Amino acid sequence: MNKKERIKLYNKVLKKIIPTKKELIEEQKIFEEINQKIKKINGKHSHLEWCGSSARNTHLKNDRDLDLFIMFDKELTDKELEKEGLRIGKNVFRGYKWEKAYSQHPYIRGIIKGFDIEIVPGYIVKSGSEKKSSVDRTPFHNKYLLKRLSEKQKNDIRLLKQFFKGIDAYGADLKNCSLPGYGIELLILYYKNFENALKEISKWKKIKIIKFNKEEEFFENPLVIIDPVDPKRNVASALTEEQFNKIILASKLFLKNPSIKFFFKQKNKKWNKKKVEKMLNKKELIAIKTEFPKKDLPDLIWGQLRRMLKKISNDLEENDFIVLRKKVWSNEKDVWFIFELETLKLQKAKKIIGPKVIDEENVKKFLEKKRKILSGPRIEQERVILEIEREKINASEILKDFLKKCEKQEKKAMKIILKKSKIIFEKEILKEYKGEFAEFFTKYLEGKEIFQ
Ligand code: CTP
Ligand code: MG
Repeated sequence: MNKKERIKLYNKVLKKIIPTKKELIEEQKIFEEINQKIKKINGKHSHLEWCGSSARNTHLKNDRDLDLFIMFDKELTDKELEKEGLRIGKNVFRGYKWEKAYSQHPYIRGIIKGFDIEIVPGYIVKSGSEKKSSVDRTPFHNKYLLKRLSEKQKNDIRLLKQFFKGIDAYGADLKNCSLPGYGIELLILYYKNFENALKEISKWKKIKIIKFNKEEEFFENPLVIIDPVDPKRNVASALTEEQFNKIILASKLFLKNPSIKFFFKQKNKKWNKKKVEKMLNKKELIAIKTEFPKKDLPDLIWGQLRRMLKKISNDLEENDFIVLRKKVWSNEKDVWFIFELETLKLQKAKKIIGPKVIDEENVKKFLEKKRKILSGPRIEQERVILEIEREKINASEILKDFLKKCEKQEKKAMKIILKKSKIIFEKEILKEYKGEFAEFFTKYLEGKEIFQ
């Protein structure tokens, strides 16, 4: 693709992601309304600050989200800040839908005219590193970027955000495990524009450090973007190694063959049941289906689901199963854990290799241990060998016992997730093969990155 064609492609994408004038005016109006309201409230607050990407005009179309900070003198105690923040927040949302949310301090967020609005309390401090709580650096992000970004770069930010979104790598939350919007803005600031950013990203090696000043580097993540307003913080701290590599690969492939499919996920054709069945016949797959708890914060649940996936997989491996692939999927209604194993059923007999014959003490211990011996002990080369009988040979039994054990140990949300979990065999997967799950499962079986 030549330069002219590429620019045409970028403009096509930009048309879909730049907020309309109407949207921008609406945002402005709502900010003014809330600002006036807050000015009239008697209280210990100083003023309202509009932060986040909508304040910088680097947000994506239809991302109707306003991050507003109500600022207080830093002499105020945490308790008072919290109380005042909540009181003023509730006052603003009187007559609208709102809820209490939690960050460093609890705060109120609600919906006004279709906009998700957060009113977060923060302290007025002199710099981001002088912060009293982690949200205090947010207003400094705004000032830092606004001073340095050109108008053209704001659209480059939107392109890069949409690119990350398209390859499922947008957000520092526990579902996406990648960069927050602010991190993407810093990448554009550092690499100047969208295309150059992709060129540089495609060259990233094992560890990449990006800094705007001469700060010390003491982070251990694959990507380090030192926050220019707070040198102790790595903006890319949530990015996993897998996502790091995905971003590099996607950049390389895009540069080789630019296409709109990197920005917007293409709806792929669902496989029919016959095709799924045929594929399943060639694999050894077992799954656990459960429900996504409604009451808890999704981010919290995603963290727990990922942790549980690892725990279950480890338990299978401890019981001699070879896990070839594992995955947790959820549309935040249903949850599926999927495991592909080398085999779903093991031999009854298990060979265990004991200590060296000359290691008398350990040989004694090895032979004293109670187990169901099938054959042996005998010597093979220099070691004592036993053949014993396995108690459980089916992956499903192992899973069942493990889920029960965890249900006893876990608390709250995870306990409920485990209680509702059901083991699903290959045949039953076909019965459940519909809707969003079917869409995911086709992609899973295709086994490619989404941008391929
Ligand atoms: N923020 C941060 N680190 C995060 C998340 C948020 O520093 N992991 C700060 C940034 O200053 C950010 C602000 O909180 O600008 C608002 O957060 P958010 O709405 O999540 O990000 P935006 O920058 O507004 O980006 P977008 O909404 O476009 O994703
Ligand atoms: Mg935002």
